Amino acid sequence: MRPRFFALAGVLGFWAVAVCAQQGTVAPPLQPAAPLQCARTWAGHEAEIERLLEDAKVERVEGIDIGITHPKRAFVAPGGPVDSFAWKPIRPGIYDGFWESYQSEVAAYKLDRLIGLGMVPVAVERRVDGLLGAAIMWVDPVRMWRTLKREERPSGRQWRLQILRMNMFDNLICNKDRNQGNLLIDDDGHLILIDHSRAFITSSELPVKFTQVEAPLWARMGALSEASLTAALGGCLTPGQIRSILTRRDRMRQAIDALVKKNGTARVFVG
Ligand SMILES: Nc1ncnc2c1ncn2[C@@H]1O[C@H](COP(=O)(O)OP(=O)(O)O)[C@@H](O)[C@H]1O
Ligand SMILES: [Mg+2]
Repeated sequence: MRPRFFALAGVLGFWAVAVCAQQGTVAPPLQPAAPLQCARTWAGHEAEIERLLEDAKVERVEGIDIGITHPKRAFVAPGGPVDSFAWKPIRPGIYDGFWESYQSEVAAYKLDRLIGLGMVPVAVERRVDGLLGAAIMWVDPVRMWRTLKREERPSGRQWRLQILRMNMFDNLICNKDRNQGNLLIDDDGHLILIDHSRAFITSSELPVKFTQVEAPLWARMGALSEASLTAALGGCLTPGQIRSILTRRDRMRQAIDALVKKNGTARVFVG
């Protein structure tokens, strides 16, 4: 019964998103992991926040004492849906041996939108003081995973689903930098993903080992095509970077097929 159910859910999910993803339009969000409150304030207001981040006059810029690249925090006029953003004017290049780019921050948000992930805050390309970079909405109130005491750490099914989604996303974008400072958690237990400047390298490697995938998200990933990715991400990624996303997606599919053979559909597809 269960394997049949998951197979049916997978097929239906696939058809539901195939047209949308192939046309490069934004997929509707997946079922939220928990009620939408707190720091995921961008959900349903993405277009408005994108415009604000692109156009708002920056009133002041402050340094942040945490992190490796020491991004800055830029403040705009208070009273709107966002009053500040992380400012990352990282020109594409190699830094400390890692390839990085502000464009990867924007690409992570756009890909999140395309597959309806709902975990990456709104990010846009803009200029501040003549410099081109990524403006990523500042999410608040949140805590970094690494600052949580053991007893404060979320657990349970909804949490595990979020981790599963994060791992699938990190494999798709080849993100090897998901350290505990790049996981933000709000009071409702929403997992919020930041810091993608090192992602989208042209590698076929899958950085995260996995034994399960979330069926609805996998259906959306499975429906991605060169056309849909180019329509959504062509402004911030090269054709080679886009092809790499599909190469990794196809490797994920091979791994999933092998897992299904070994463990059965019901053990591999959840959600
Ligand atoms: N959009 C954001 N909303 C809230 N906090 C943020 C945001 N971006 C960065 N931060 C905070 O700044 C820290 C460093 O930013 P991050 O993007 O991880 O840069 P780095 O490359 O330096 O690690 C994060 O760990 C987080 O505490
Ligand atoms: Mg970081």
